[in-house]
Amino acid sequence: MARRLSEDELEQIKGSVDLVELIGQDIALTKRGKNYLGLCPFHNEKTPSFNVSPDKQFFHCFGCGKSGTVFNYLMFQKNIDFMSAVKEIAEIGNIKIDGLEEKQSFEKPHQRLYDIHHEAAIFFHHLLVNTEYGSEPLEYLQARGIDAEIIEHFNIGFSPKGQESLLKKLLIGKGYTEIELLESGLFARNEQGTLRETFFNRIIFPLADEFNHVIGFSGRTMDAHHPAKYLNSPQTKIFNKSHELFHLAEAKPVVRKTQEVFVMEGFMDVIAAYRVGILNTVASMGTSLTGAHIERLSKLSKKLIFAFDGDSAGQNAIYKALQLVNQKIPAEVVIFPERLDPDDYLKKYGDEALVNLMQHARSSQVSFLIDFTKSQYNLANEAEQLAFVQKMLPIIGQVKSIVAQDVHLTQLSELAPLVSKEALIQELSNGQTRYSKTNTLDRLQKKQTNQNNLVRLSQLEQAERQLLARVLEKPTVLQELIENQAFNFKHPIYQKIYVQIIAYFLRHDIIKVTDILESLENEERSVLFEISSLELDDEITDGEIKDLVAIIEKQSLLDQLNQVIQRQREAKANGNFEAELNLGLEIIQLQQEIQK
Ligand code: CTP
Ligand code: MN
Repeated sequence: MARRLSEDELEQIKGSVDLVELIGQDIALTKRGKNYLGLCPFHNEKTPSFNVSPDKQFFHCFGCGKSGTVFNYLMFQKNIDFMSAVKEIAEIGNIKIDGLEEKQSFEKPHQRLYDIHHEAAIFFHHLLVNTEYGSEPLEYLQARGIDAEIIEHFNIGFSPKGQESLLKKLLIGKGYTEIELLESGLFARNEQGTLRETFFNRIIFPLADEFNHVIGFSGRTMDAHHPAKYLNSPQTKIFNKSHELFHLAEAKPVVRKTQEVFVMEGFMDVIAAYRVGILNTVASMGTSLTGAHIERLSKLSKKLIFAFDGDSAGQNAIYKALQLVNQKIPAEVVIFPERLDPDDYLKKYGDEALVNLMQHARSSQVSFLIDFTKSQYNLANEAEQLAFVQKMLPIIGQVKSIVAQDVHLTQLSELAPLVSKEALIQELSNGQTRYSKTNTLDRLQKKQTNQNNLVRLSQLEQAERQLLARVLEKPTVLQELIENQAFNFKHPIYQKIYVQIIAYFLRHDIIKVTDILESLENEERSVLFEISSLELDDEITDGEIKDLVAIIEKQSLLDQLNQVIQRQREAKANGNFEAELNLGLEIIQLQQEIQK
């Protein structure tokens, strides 16, 4: 009994899955301006023309014209109908809606493994909060500042010792096989061949994937002298440690807004940040940070902030992580004093101090690298000063901002006083072509892909496009234009789109680009997608709209003037004296208007 879903329900389902993440599982996407670019999965191509917009949650292929939302993507990709796509997205996004019955065929391949984890998480949590088993661990958690709200939020649990494996009984009772139990990593066979629980006498932290499905657990001992402080689920079919990140599902919506994500060392640190209201945090789980982790995060966020432990292990780990980042995306570092980790820092200095440190006391990745590297050199020694400078210059050469480069050169010359700043600047510009090779290449590629998609535009068209982009951003801009009754876009295609936007706005009182895109067809859709992806300044400056309108009017008159001049030349060549004279009058009129 499938019923019609309301707009709100559809929106909720649509919003539960990130389009970039979803498509990123099928094809490699590279950030290009506001969008991600890749080879279209729906037609054969050698140069990428498949664009995904993270802001609009909309994809568009300039090659084959396929475009749309998460739903459309699945419809094309799996050749299924709209409702099937909606159901599947709801399933991935973990959205339960009554009447949206789940079909067997939409089960994820490892559904039963997910289910085992789900059951186990509920069970561990129940033991902690509702049974006698929980009294000691609750006391331990309390002492660490983890109260009932946090226990609920992170669904923390407890696996007692010597309880004759209640979990096994529970799961077998629910029909799971021993093979499945083994596959989950929650059990292992002992020498006698019987199944034994992996976790006993440990506080249990569920580890979830980006859709908040539990995929593993980490258990902490309460015994300060236990050799294994944490024990983690092994790698399984649903738990890939080099890919998964703790707290990603919860961090995602905040990261999408702030475009910043904190990367921390342990989930206790993530919990500490949560306690002070910082939610855009993740941590790797039982492994050091991998290139895959960084890749994932840089698809989601414009900036990475490393908030690792203040001890030397933590600082070394930041250094390694920054090698992986390799300045491909902006990164910053939070340094915790006295070798503390974020959780200890919170305990010692309190909420406000932790917020201040994380939000306001960050250093840039290059400043960190300078500080970190300098300790490897004896800078009292002349040769070592030179070696240090040689090591750092290529890194500084890659910094995109000239101002930031200058700051780093000052830092460098202060640390290596034998080398003057002037010499550093000279050396940097000598090496510039060498150092900035990757950037130049990047820029070149960018230009090429742009050229694939865009023809060279006249100033008139550029102004029309920018104005349309601003219209999409702010209803007040649209209203301003509507009030100016004489205004029209000069190229029919922009005027058509403009009229569609007005029609949409009059009906809905808001401007929703995705909806308008969906209502357009073929060329208009492509053009509007391009326009909505233009990289403009965040702020609309004073007078920008008036200026654009003026440019459009003036350029349009100039275009007309050129045409009339051309026609006059033709008339003259044909000896048509009367036409030549009339066109001359038109020219004078146009010139006067342009003067105005
Ligand atoms: N870790 C692990 N096994 C260990 C120790 C650590 O898998 N024996 C992983 C865990 O994922 C942990 C992270 O490394 O979250 C960070 O370790 P550490 O800094 O030692 O732990 P803390 O976060 O400080 O935990 P606690 O405050 O409980 O000591
Ligand atoms: Mn700690």
